[in-house]
Amino acid sequence: MAGRGLGQLFARKSVEQIQSEYGASELKKTLGPVNLVLLGIGCIIGAGIFVRTGSAAALHAGPAVILSFIIAGAICALAGLCYAELASALPVSGSAYTYSYTTLGEFAAWIMGGLLLLEYGLAASTVAVGWGEYFVSLLHDMGIIIPPELTAPAGKLITTESGAQITAIFNLPAAGISVVMALLLIVGVSESATVNNVIVFIKVAVIIAFCVVGAFFVNPANWQPFIPEPTGVEGEFGWGGVMRAATIVFFAYIGFEAVSTAGQEAKNPKRDMPIGIIGSLVVCTVLYMATSLVLTGVVPYQQLNSGAPVADAVNSFGPGWTWFAVMIKVGALAGLTSVILVLMYGQTRIFYTMARDGLLPTPFSKIHSKFKTPWVNTIVTGVIVAVAAGVFDINTIGDLTSVGTLAAFAIVCVSVIWLRQTRPNLERGFKVPLYPVIPIVGILSCLYLMFQTPENVRMFFLWFMIGAIVLYFVYGMWNSKLAKGVVVHGHEPPPHELEIPKPQNPEG
Ligand code: ALA
Repeated sequence: MAGRGLGQLFARKSVEQIQSEYGASELKKTLGPVNLVLLGIGCIIGAGIFVRTGSAAALHAGPAVILSFIIAGAICALAGLCYAELASALPVSGSAYTYSYTTLGEFAAWIMGGLLLLEYGLAASTVAVGWGEYFVSLLHDMGIIIPPELTAPAGKLITTESGAQITAIFNLPAAGISVVMALLLIVGVSESATVNNVIVFIKVAVIIAFCVVGAFFVNPANWQPFIPEPTGVEGEFGWGGVMRAATIVFFAYIGFEAVSTAGQEAKNPKRDMPIGIIGSLVVCTVLYMATSLVLTGVVPYQQLNSGAPVADAVNSFGPGWTWFAVMIKVGALAGLTSVILVLMYGQTRIFYTMARDGLLPTPFSKIHSKFKTPWVNTIVTGVIVAVAAGVFDINTIGDLTSVGTLAAFAIVCVSVIWLRQTRPNLERGFKVPLYPVIPIVGILSCLYLMFQTPENVRMFFLWFMIGAIVLYFVYGMWNSKLAKGVVVHGHEPPPHELEIPKPQNPEG
């Protein structure tokens, strides 16, 4: 039990160990740079722009939601640069979880595992709820009505078209799409990545079409006042509202770092991971700024608080544009589908890596003999995502996702600093410019945005973290392979301390 003292909390995997795990992985190595950028975009553009932008503008920022996008995008860029450096130095599955294990130690890795459950699992549920909104709306256009009590979270009061008030039971479309995506992931990554690439193409085309056509319908008067006067309620308009909206639209950027979870399936991770991360982030930032500008220019911001604001904007073009509205909804559905797919993909790979480390039960790392995918944990992920999508409100789980992700980003920035201090000579395919300013500003800005979320969300987050910490001391600590000195994949027992290898690329 020597490994179970306080020192275990800081026990670290060596860089060499995780690199050898990369080589020993049973997962297929099929992804190149283009696939990785598409994987990123597939995860990034989704409910954030198609659903949450509407309420962010209508209730918090008005036309200045574009500033919120710039602020959130800039913060993501800081974290993205840190992710890119870590991804180029540590090409492994599990992303931020493994980075933490290698730099800050086992306890930080466990905490990161919990945060990533919010960032990937709960985000997938959030997007599934957004998917349900567009799906119900599209079916409505086609004259198909799903019973409203089966389209919203349990207990939510809904006013039907006839004016009657009913209480919702379960969000069936949201849960249903989650189950379908889990099945697709079980069938295999290359098939799923191909589907993903096609859908990414469709959704980017739809967004560009919306911006180009919408530009002709913009009424510049809708951009006045650009930053509406604050109402006096915290986070409602004024600069406070812009910041509050930044925490909401921050959700729209989550996903660029999912590229780093594909480390074990990348052909040339050192070169391609930074390209995938930064490339997808840049493309999406430009698209978001254009979309939010057109959206608030076409529709007065007060009217944007709906489940399908982009489709509403197209509806306002006039009766001749109905086909375009349907096209936008289909494109949005495709986009949201790809996001759920990639987020769930990321979640299953994080579970997979944690199980290989002994921090989760062994079945989580079981690979299907034919499909070569972690099928047991994909089923578990599917159930978690489907249940959360079925019973929770989109704003609550969306905000919770943002808080968890911001905390994860802050830890990633800390990891970069830690690795630079302790391993200055480690070979890095990509290095954060302006070090240490960028990681430090990254940490501070993530913490600042976390505190812009509503208090109930922060309290929920706190209890979630307390639960995660208790679970570590009850389960993770006793089953960790690192603590037992067990070899993960036929290599020498890992050292508990990070070893300093011979410098391959000497530097200061
Ligand atoms: N960024 C992803 C979305 O907006 C999570 O749906």
